[in-house]
Amino acid sequence: MRKPIIVTGGLGFLGSWVVDEAIKRGYKVIVIDALTYAANPEYLKDHKIRILQPEDRILWGKIVLRDGNIKPLWEFKEQNFERCKDIEGAIRDFLESELEVLVIIDSVEDHEMMLRILKFSPYIIHLAAETHVDKSIESAWDFVRSEIIGFYSIIEAFRRIWGKEGFFVLVSTDEVLGEIMEGEADESYPLKPRNPYAAAKASQEHFAQSYINTYGTPITIVRPTNAFGPRQHDEKFVPTIIRNALMGTPIPVYGNGKQRRVWIYAEDVARGIMEVFEKGEKFEIYHIGSDYELENIELVKMILRMMGKSEDLISFVKDRPGHDRRYRLAYNKILKLGWRVETTLEEGLKATIEYYTKKYVSGGSSVRR
Ligand SMILES: NC(=O)c1ccc[n+]([C@@H]2O[C@H](COP(=O)([O-])OP(=O)(O)OC[C@H]3O[C@@H](n4cnc5c(N)ncnc54)[C@H](O)[C@@H]3O)[C@@H](O)[C@H]2O)c1
Repeated sequence: MRKPIIVTGGLGFLGSWVVDEAIKRGYKVIVIDALTYAANPEYLKDHKIRILQPEDRILWGKIVLRDGNIKPLWEFKEQNFERCKDIEGAIRDFLESELEVLVIIDSVEDHEMMLRILKFSPYIIHLAAETHVDKSIESAWDFVRSEIIGFYSIIEAFRRIWGKEGFFVLVSTDEVLGEIMEGEADESYPLKPRNPYAAAKASQEHFAQSYINTYGTPITIVRPTNAFGPRQHDEKFVPTIIRNALMGTPIPVYGNGKQRRVWIYAEDVARGIMEVFEKGEKFEIYHIGSDYELENIELVKMILRMMGKSEDLISFVKDRPGHDRRYRLAYNKILKLGWRVETTLEEGLKATIEYYTKKYVSGGSSVRR
């Protein structure tokens, strides 16, 4: 039987797009996700899915209701969350079944559980992480736990079980390179993280390189640029612009809005990650970029134009401390694997505006593209 792919963070924004793409390509997928505030099991509801909460674990999963109350997972019977004693047995059943996705609610820091799950497959795509830069500036504890301890836990389990076999894709970020004020940074550019989130992600890369050098662990790193699209958490820039435009409330823009970012649609990122998974070389780094480079203020104006809303909503606010002024990846290497950007900025934004308009205006939480 074909081995499944293990996708960590598969209930989050990019992770759920990666799961979609993997299923499209005929894989069975085991998701490991801690169900933090950024996760939503409904992102995977169109797949044949089973969701398990290991019974002997502390309660990672909880759902915050609209009224602010918190309920444990298993009270959501309609979501088919199950408490499970025998995770290995459940994985064996899954592999023999017609199901497409098995979700195990747990944190990647749980090393003993990683040892139990990873023995079923040496194919891992690791996306689980805390991802909001502003939160990391307030306090980086969760970032240290998820990114650094979590990565050590899973890569060490992988090494102990599989040695030099298999393929481990670490999803990093363009932010590990720090700001690129001129030209483009290729895959050999030195790491120079400038905020706590980027430092935590760079730590993962340092560990990955040390494992490649010391043990020959078959790791490959991908660094996507700024992604946008349906299912991104409300806290992020593009959903904030759309939500505030819909509500007619001020759209906060940091500093003078002149920070430059390169934007790419989530589906293109997911295809890029899967292309690297299927065709990339072990030990290599691949950038996933695009040419849609804009100042933040230009992006806001573009979205407002597309939504027919007034620029009067723009409100400049105190800049983020240490705010990087520009990111720009060279991405020729991944083009050689046959990957291309397929969604224009305009098409991607149109789909994203539609998604959030349904979500915010009709109040549904289960709206998909
Ligand atoms: N979104 C982007 O623009 C972007 C760009 C480049 C790289 N990345 C990287 O891609 C990955 C996914 O980003 P995203 O935007 O989808 O994030 P997200 O915040 O939407 O989702 C992260 C997911 O990981 C899970 N998670 C967090 N900590 C965990 C832990 N300790 N154990 C298990 N699961 C955990 C969360 O529950 C959530 O489902 C991250 O590694 C991020 O650094 C994102």
